[in-house]
Amino acid sequence: MPTVEFYRSGKLIRTAKAVDGETIYDRIKAEDLYIEAPCGGRGRCGKCLVQLKENGEKVRACQTVVRGDMTVYLPETMKMEIAGANDSGSASGYKGPLGVAVDIGTTTVVAHLTDIPTRTRLATASGVNAQRVYGADVISRIQYCADNGHETLTRLIREQLSGLILDACRKAGANPKDIKYVSIAGNTIMQHLAAGFSPVGMGVTPFTPVSLFGDEHPVAGIFPIADDAVIYYAPCVYSYVGGDITAGMLAADIENIPGPCVYIDIGTNGELVLKVGDRYFCCATAAGPAFEGAEIAKGMAAIQGAISHVKWSDDKGLELTVIGDAPPEGLCGSGLMDALAVMVATGAVDETGRLLDAEELDHGISKYLGKREGVNVFWLSKEHDVYMIPGDIRKLQLAKAAIAGGIQTLLHEAGIKETDVNAFLLAGGFGSYLDKNSAATIGLFPKCFLPHAKTIGNTAGEGAALALCSAEARATLANMMDKFTVVDLGEHKIFNEQFIEQIMFEN
Ligand code: FES
Repeated sequence: MPTVEFYRSGKLIRTAKAVDGETIYDRIKAEDLYIEAPCGGRGRCGKCLVQLKENGEKVRACQTVVRGDMTVYLPETMKMEIAGANDSGSASGYKGPLGVAVDIGTTTVVAHLTDIPTRTRLATASGVNAQRVYGADVISRIQYCADNGHETLTRLIREQLSGLILDACRKAGANPKDIKYVSIAGNTIMQHLAAGFSPVGMGVTPFTPVSLFGDEHPVAGIFPIADDAVIYYAPCVYSYVGGDITAGMLAADIENIPGPCVYIDIGTNGELVLKVGDRYFCCATAAGPAFEGAEIAKGMAAIQGAISHVKWSDDKGLELTVIGDAPPEGLCGSGLMDALAVMVATGAVDETGRLLDAEELDHGISKYLGKREGVNVFWLSKEHDVYMIPGDIRKLQLAKAAIAGGIQTLLHEAGIKETDVNAFLLAGGFGSYLDKNSAATIGLFPKCFLPHAKTIGNTAGEGAALALCSAEARATLANMMDKFTVVDLGEHKIFNEQFIEQIMFEN
């Protein structure tokens, strides 16, 4: 059996026995180590790079079979800024009973320790979802469960939540055994995995979940809290509009917003809700991975070295904002959207999305157009080899067309026009960071939404906290469930038409 030594940040973190024929990625998973693997090991994203000591080569962990003893340098672990995770709490004693409000995102997990009687947040703990090693989006995770069962992913999220709960208790000086209630909001797949249900039925038509939740489960020893504690899961509408959306709508108090309102959460999926009267029309689009930087040549998560914002002016040219004030290594979602908006606004891409040659354009931006290994590129930083290729633009174009087409389809179903909408709420981590003007420029949503657009942050966790402390809030969630109309975009004639129409850019 070959021995693999794993190093991170210059330190030996694990010496492992590998099974002949397995990949480095297989061993990383088996050892519960962390690596970014957005495509779940299918060899498509090129993001699972590790360095081999033997020859100094950088290789894709999922495509490299262990042959003999090896020393592998893993990349730094991802430190992600998590919206809403740094809220200051109060550790000055509590009445109890305590509760924990949890937001399980596909990317990040946040737990708020709360004193239920006083509704006071005592402490917050958060981290990158430990299941991310198994793929960045829910489809990769479902695929893993279909091939291997869901037990590993269930174990990972439960262990992570237990750790976050203990961490929050430590920060607040609280006894975990005083925790009597846990309120969880996540998408339907994340809630299934936390509850120990298989999500596999949601990966194939007719996309059947085991449960739509909205109910309470005994803790049954899965978390280190009071033995008689109860876990509440926010209700899900269907497989692809889950408890994160219903909890987020509760936190946004959407019920009391007058007039038609669009609520949108772009994570690894794009979930859309249109409220008209007391009806909620909803749909989901598989739009997210591109906006998360997955499967984009220089795409990366919103971590140090990621270009998070791009601005263009005639006198200064391109101005980049890089997370952590570091040299740029790639672009995260908000940076990708800004860069594309600059290209659209300056004409560097035409309305079909074609990246022009420098000679075709009489504009200052043309100095950022060039070729790299024979392929047309848009240079963000030639010095640091950060660029976008036509394939990236295409993927972003398809993603934005899916969201924009989804919005138009919901408007059609509700029988209203886009100009009738008078509130536009952008929820979720990505919604908090994207530049609304850039999003409108690329046509992610109609330009007439712009004056009504409001970013509302990670509302799923806030909704889970409301449900934690108030039976009334839980009743509001339960009542909401009769008001949804699910719009299936798969076979929808209007969506198919709109999707094609929305692929175009308006220069
Ligand atoms: S290429 Fe290895 S995880 Fe995507």
